[in-house]
Amino acid sequence: MNLENKISFVLDGKIQVIDFNYSEYTPTTTLLHYLRSLPTHKSVKEGCGEGDCGACTVVIGENNLGGIQYRAFDSCLIFLPSIYGKQVITTENLGSADNLHPVQKALYEFDGSQCGFCTPGFVMSIYALYKQDNIPDKTEVTDAIAGNLCRCTGYRPIIDAAEYVCNNKNEDIIDKSEKETLALLNSVDKSETILISSSEQKYYLPFYKEDALKLRNENPQAVLVSGETDVALRVTKKNELIPNIIDISQVKDLKFEKETSDGFIFGANYSLEDIRQTCEGKLDALYDMLCVFGSRQIRNRACLGGNLGSASPIGDAIPVLMAYDAELTIENINAKRTVKLRDFITGYRQTKCNADELITEIYIPFPTKDKIIKSYKISKRKDLDIATVSACFSLILEAGKVKNIYAFYGGMAAWTKRALSTEKYLIGKEWNRNNVELAMKELANDFKPISDARSGEKARQIMAANLLLKFWSESGE
Ligand SMILES: Cc1cc2nc3c(=O)[nH]c(=O)nc-3n(C[C@H](O)[C@H](O)[C@H](O)COP(=O)(O)OP(=O)(O)OC[C@H]3O[C@@H](n4cnc5c(N)ncnc54)[C@H](O)[C@@H]3O)c2cc1C
Ligand code: FES
Ligand code: FES
Repeated sequence: MNLENKISFVLDGKIQVIDFNYSEYTPTTTLLHYLRSLPTHKSVKEGCGEGDCGACTVVIGENNLGGIQYRAFDSCLIFLPSIYGKQVITTENLGSADNLHPVQKALYEFDGSQCGFCTPGFVMSIYALYKQDNIPDKTEVTDAIAGNLCRCTGYRPIIDAAEYVCNNKNEDIIDKSEKETLALLNSVDKSETILISSSEQKYYLPFYKEDALKLRNENPQAVLVSGETDVALRVTKKNELIPNIIDISQVKDLKFEKETSDGFIFGANYSLEDIRQTCEGKLDALYDMLCVFGSRQIRNRACLGGNLGSASPIGDAIPVLMAYDAELTIENINAKRTVKLRDFITGYRQTKCNADELITEIYIPFPTKDKIIKSYKISKRKDLDIATVSACFSLILEAGKVKNIYAFYGGMAAWTKRALSTEKYLIGKEWNRNNVELAMKELANDFKPISDARSGEKARQIMAANLLLKFWSESGE
């Protein structure tokens, strides 16, 4: 274990070292607060502090297949040790008032800024898009900035600027020093687990699965984080002091995708954005759900292990992966077991994952040709909002009759649940509107949802019933 109590990362073209023995920062200081504490990176703004406004967006560069992959993240949701061995880029690194980067220049020339509070965040989201290999279409442009709010300019000029600049890419200031940056990133040792400790906190950053399992075994009381998008809010919003954290975000052997003849296997740490891109055209219901999951900044960081591990009643991936009949691999230091996701959640935020275990892999089988799977999410806004009610259905028809149906709902109970009585009612019946409307009434036997700030009980029941009808209307009579 590396006990130096230091982290190293690249900022402003050089390796920066934070020595936690002699600094004002703690292991759970966010990247946002660190950057704002510097005299030179004040462009990074704090709006909401919870991933909702994008004002704090930065681009992080990481070693990827011999090059650097650049992605946008909300710096308010990143604990400092997570940037170990990475490159942090803010608008100050792109250009200055008399030498604007093409992205900054486009926003200026297309009148994409008024008060300017949101502008650095937009610059960084658009910059991440600019660094992608492809030329994005309008859908991709709007997706890339869906996590950035602007209260005064209006989005049209911002979208125009992004489209223009991404269609006119050139080598830029970051490309020019990429070779040197890569050498700096490679010089940061990622073999031994890093321990950052203060009088009140211990933060472990392992790089290998075996080390993560060992830490989990020795520290079952520690809070596990992968993308931190759930757990960071405990610090930024609730001011909680988390004494022990095991951060598995840099465990490479949990970050992978593998396509087999029968399905996909994703490492628990594989980002939701990577999964979204991979499953397009292959797992449509999952793709559709991930397109309305958080924002790109959130999906770049959040992982499937975190979404399933948190067992939230409104976790978006859960009903979808239940409909696909996904299977989890769960490991501790001595053993490995598989659990069907349908059996994994045992109560409100309770799972079958023990305190010494990790979810390591998620297997999602391809649906058989006769199976129709569709997912739905109802929220107050399309983008960057959590579900009021969500559902995913899996249906097999035979000669117009229901041979098999699964209906999983989120937001209708304390955890994601199957509408067993509705399913039972439909099996063997003609798949027609009349029977579906009768089945919609059965849903009242399956769920007694609560009323909360998001919605009332009655409205939730109506939404759940209407989603079944919508599924029927989209699945062919
Ligand atoms: C602005 C914003 C928007 C969001 N939008 C959505 C949304 O649209 N839909 C949605 O479902 N959620 C949303 N979320 C919630 C959150 O992003 C997701 O639940 C996400 O998938 C969590 O993943 P993570 O890797 O960040 O989890 P973390 O915060 O790292 O961890 C969450 C929990 O999972 C456990 N965990 C993590 N990895 C593992 C593992 N390998 N094995 C066992 N347990 C593990 C941790 O112990 C922890 O309790 C949003 C959050 C924010 C801040
Ligand atoms: S401050 Fe709003 S997303 Fe980070
Ligand atoms: S320019 Fe004022 S918030 Fe966007």
